[in-house]
Amino acid sequence: MAEKIIVIDEGTTSTRTMLFDADGTPLGSAQREFRQHYPGPGLVEHDAAEIWTATLDCTRDVVEQAGGAHQVAAIGITNQRETVVFWDRTTGEPLAPAIVWQDRRTAADCAALKEAGHEAAVQAKSGLLLDPYFSGSKIGWALKHWPQLREAGDRLAVGTIESYLIYRLTGGIHVTDATNASRTLLMDINGAGGWDAGLCGLLGVPMGLLPEITGCATAVGTTDPELFGGPIAISGMAGDQQAATIGQACLSPGQTKATFGTGAFILSASGRERPVSANRLLATILVQEGDARSYALEGSVFVAGSLIKWLRDGLGLLASAGESEGLARSVLDNGGVYLVPALSGLGAPHWRPDALAALSGLSFASTKAHVARAALEAQAYQAHDLKSAFAADGVDWAELRIDGGMAANDWMAQDLADMLDIVVERPDFVESTALGAAMLAATGAGLYPDLAAAAAAMRGTATRFTPSLDAPKRKARLAGWQSALAKVLE
Ligand code: G3P
Repeated sequence: MAEKIIVIDEGTTSTRTMLFDADGTPLGSAQREFRQHYPGPGLVEHDAAEIWTATLDCTRDVVEQAGGAHQVAAIGITNQRETVVFWDRTTGEPLAPAIVWQDRRTAADCAALKEAGHEAAVQAKSGLLLDPYFSGSKIGWALKHWPQLREAGDRLAVGTIESYLIYRLTGGIHVTDATNASRTLLMDINGAGGWDAGLCGLLGVPMGLLPEITGCATAVGTTDPELFGGPIAISGMAGDQQAATIGQACLSPGQTKATFGTGAFILSASGRERPVSANRLLATILVQEGDARSYALEGSVFVAGSLIKWLRDGLGLLASAGESEGLARSVLDNGGVYLVPALSGLGAPHWRPDALAALSGLSFASTKAHVARAALEAQAYQAHDLKSAFAADGVDWAELRIDGGMAANDWMAQDLADMLDIVVERPDFVESTALGAAMLAATGAGLYPDLAAAAAAMRGTATRFTPSLDAPKRKARLAGWQSALAKVLE
């Protein structure tokens, strides 16, 4: 019996396909970066056709590594959330650029809706806030401004990235899973809710354009046999942050993970009851198994790894991302330098799409090592601010499980433990997002009776970082951050 699992992890900057054994052991991978388009300030677009080609190439590579399609029990898909794709149902080709989650073009539209008093009702239904981050306002904007979408009439299909990939992989199945749907601003996440006519109306999105909402560990279709030399079932789907939460086995209420990828996303499992935040955090669907939904409370930080990438590519301050760790260690402290990384506004708990980044506390004594250290320290400060917001919502983290490419940085992992003053645990295999999607696909393929069993069997070993900074030093650093942040929020 085929027991290998393939995961397509379609992130913000690259597509990666990974091969796993049924026990969670990683066996192989292929990766391809794709282009980021910045047509103007605050605008971020992707070419969905390029993403599809990268996905196809990487998946073919990994099918070969597996020894052929017949060796693969199932495919799991996980993806950058909120990014929206507009395509032609008859050809599968995109009809417009994909608008990326980081894109702020609808900031004024969202502000106007907020001003008109809609936010409380929107939050009660969707668990989200009126911010350009989410898909709904982007879809409404595109339908208004891109005539080819209106002209396409019934041929137009809309969906998030996993929805588009499933459409192409299966040759026409138009579905989305409940976790991705819960990030659109168009879904009623309560009870058995689905697309909500009121939310769709508010944001100008005809419901007929949207995919059918499915569970996360269920066979939604098989790949076109022509693509990989034989059909493969697609039986696992989740947005990347939900997948990472599952990959970290954070399934019981209160268990919390932080993924440091392009952004940093912290999710605490809430169990079967939908959480309600009074502190500008998000309520979101963590997973849907069959018809049973469980929820999470989320804090979304928009800039994490992208800050290091920007120091490397935008400023030319680093030769490689990995250099940041050595630079941070090379100085005794931050020398009074703070970097507030509002490069695409600020997410939770501030929700200020208009905020701009700031580097403060510079003197002639400041070096690039201080700037690199300030960039890494900013991760712990942002996590600290979220920890306070979660605690105010009644979710006090006992420990934090971290993952994502940036979490491989030992200095940053220790700094997180120091600033949060709790144990930070890092799995030895940091690609929890892909592992979580593998757990879902394995469950959907019947290799495990349920997700909890898959998580117990497939999660690997971890390293623990224990806090070791004294309280006065922690307080002094946090005070420095708070005053730098206050200037950005003015
Ligand atoms: O909500 C956006 C998130 O899904 C992006 O994830 O991994 O590309 O930082 P990542």
